[in-house]
Amino acid sequence: MTTMVGNGYQSGFGNEFATEALPGVLPEGQNSPQRVAHGLYAEQVSGTAFTAPRRENRRSWLYRIRPAAMHKPFAPLVHATFHNRFDEAPATPNQLRWDPWPLPTAPTDFLDGLVTIAGNGGAAEQGGIGVHVYAANRSMEGRYFYDADGELLIVPQLGRLRLLTELGVLDVAPLEIAVIPRGIRLRVELLDAEARGYVAENFGALLRLPDLGPIGANSMALPRDFLTPHAAWEDVEGDFKLVAKFQGALWQADIGHSPLDVIAWHGNYAPYKYDLTRFNTVGSISVDHPDPSIFTVLTSPSDTPGTANLDFVIFPPRWLVAEHTFRPPYFHRNVASEFMGLIEGAYDAKAGGFAPGGMSLHNCMSGHGPDAASFEKATAADLSQPDHLTGTMAFMFETRKVFRPSAQALSAPQLQDDYYTCWQGIAKHFDPTKP
Ligand SMILES: [Fe+2]
Repeated sequence: MTTMVGNGYQSGFGNEFATEALPGVLPEGQNSPQRVAHGLYAEQVSGTAFTAPRRENRRSWLYRIRPAAMHKPFAPLVHATFHNRFDEAPATPNQLRWDPWPLPTAPTDFLDGLVTIAGNGGAAEQGGIGVHVYAANRSMEGRYFYDADGELLIVPQLGRLRLLTELGVLDVAPLEIAVIPRGIRLRVELLDAEARGYVAENFGALLRLPDLGPIGANSMALPRDFLTPHAAWEDVEGDFKLVAKFQGALWQADIGHSPLDVIAWHGNYAPYKYDLTRFNTVGSISVDHPDPSIFTVLTSPSDTPGTANLDFVIFPPRWLVAEHTFRPPYFHRNVASEFMGLIEGAYDAKAGGFAPGGMSLHNCMSGHGPDAASFEKATAADLSQPDHLTGTMAFMFETRKVFRPSAQALSAPQLQDDYYTCWQGIAKHFDPTKP
């Protein structure tokens, strides 16, 4: 039923974009003229408070066939697995790891295929994150979705997605990510037979590029590698559904037309995508593995400076060259809580058990790090030669508040009861008589 044709991308992060799929629609010198060209309606969507500081302020003006208000009343919609009930199971200090989430056998679209794994905070407190996986085998048909609770950071692991949004079309493949701002309506189509991936639902401050400090003006994720779609629209009428996620629950309304009817828009509140393989990875060229914050792609700050509501961190292909150093990620405990996923390949701190599509969770101050086999290999490695890690892409959603796993994640057969044993074989090497 796709009638919407993608129209390419605009480059940059948080720019004042301007795009029109029909020439002459964007008004000159004002946002809300008495009559918009071609009989369109002008509508602002505000992603921050009207009075947010200018450097934080995000909003866009949309010129559309019908205003967003035009739909029937919402009624609750039951969704068995997608929610924000982060208090239904006790938070656990145990290290947790899951096998890849299974792909569906029954027809399942992106929205039906969302499964909540863990989270903290919520929409009501405007802080915290939800962590979900999706597994789907068909496109969304006849329905549209928006999340009023948070922006969606989508991390495909298997299969390409076409995200048809109010502001244009994003095609994303594994090794790319997409961010859909809070409230922006979309329909998700599959470009392959099956799709699976991860979603961080960010209830807090909008994701942004991290500061670079002494690194300088460049490196890490480069602003011009972020791509925002040009305007594209569909003019379709029918008996459709508009699904909203609002305060942790889903609602559904009848809507007689596609809400993806924006002919032109301008502003700095818009979806975007980013190719993770473009990350300019910075690391040690002397000794020691840096803290993984050096691999931060995007961050959602909290009210406490330097303490993120959400850091999106990747572990991309890279050279390891540090001398007299344990080269893999070190053993550690962290006041922040860490959810990890694997998009492809192997993660260098684990010899096995962490498969693409799988995930792990290490909560506040829970010890973790390389498994026994990885430790023995790294301590015996020839450090006169560089290591080239290739064909791998792991990521982490790191958050200041403890993750509370969902009951369904804790009872899922994918949960590895024996994950803790990967550290049980760690040998005692201590001998005070040896150097
Ligand atoms: Fe860690």
